Amino acid sequence: MATKLHGGFFHSTLRKLQEQNVQIHPHNLMYPLFLVENDDAVQPIPSMPRISRLGINEAKKHLEPLVADGLESILLFGVIETLPKDSNGSSADSKENPVIRALPKLREWFPNLLIACDVCLCPYTDHGHCGIMNETGIDNEASIRRLADISISYALAGAHIVAPSDMMDNRIGAIKQALISHGLEKKVSLLSYAVKFASSFYGPFRDAAKSAPSFGDRRCYQLPSGSKGLAARAAQRDVEEGADMLMVKPGLPYLDIVRQTKDMFPNFPLFVYHVSGEYAMLHHAAANGALNFEAALKEVLTSMRRAGADCIITYYTPQILALIKAKSL
Ligand code: PBG
Repeated sequence: MATKLHGGFFHSTLRKLQEQNVQIHPHNLMYPLFLVENDDAVQPIPSMPRISRLGINEAKKHLEPLVADGLESILLFGVIETLPKDSNGSSADSKENPVIRALPKLREWFPNLLIACDVCLCPYTDHGHCGIMNETGIDNEASIRRLADISISYALAGAHIVAPSDMMDNRIGAIKQALISHGLEKKVSLLSYAVKFASSFYGPFRDAAKSAPSFGDRRCYQLPSGSKGLAARAAQRDVEEGADMLMVKPGLPYLDIVRQTKDMFPNFPLFVYHVSGEYAMLHHAAANGALNFEAALKEVLTSMRRAGADCIITYYTPQILALIKAKSL
């Protein structure tokens, strides 16, 4: 007679033993921050309730209690308003760039905090695309050279991790080579947004980062949502080109790809980005009484860990740290 598979697991502790590597510790979380030029600004983002773009002084105030609650890592995005946007994305690494200015201060104020910088051109180009354009479209060579230069600027300003999100072909190789030629490859880690899909779930972010493309879309450099093989090849290529860590993005709709990527590269830390649209979706569903916020958030995190994520990049990090502190996660 067949034994009932779950017959012996009647006690909640025994049931918990069936969950492997799904716990959430502070080091499993990375918190994205939007930094603006005006040091004292607090700019609420309407499409991302409870999230604001911050000037560096406000970012300090915002981070202090979170670091006290165990926050271990952040991901920085620069958003510009008065600095110029041009075809070369010159403001991405100018002296006045909010991320470049914030890095040394954050390193000084929070010496133990791990700091990653998103590397992309879309917040800084006049057309809002993630690369340099020529008459026919993206100029790949020029784009990856520019992305490598920006990465070096962030590294020299104090970033521990550079995380290119642009999806230009072969930018990982170009950035890795640049890190090596500056002697930075052992001090700065390269986190590739390796498997980034062209997704409608980025909607609120483009509002937050003021980075929506002024024409066209990103389908010729981000991955089509149905592609599994291309996702595998993108991760493979980035590993071969020298990525230290990989990311899948968005999260929930792509957990099969998270699992596939982890199975392909079990020895590489895998990040999953619970993106702005996922953030907004959960917020609005809970705010309208459709589901219980805390229970749903825990389920999302558990599912991401189960699928193979080592680190979850999420705007809900403050709430999750509070749950960890209250021992209810
Ligand atoms: C920039 C970038 C995007 C996100 C992270 N980096 C937007 C995009 O590619 O369109 C999305 C993050 C989010 O939605 O939370 N290239």
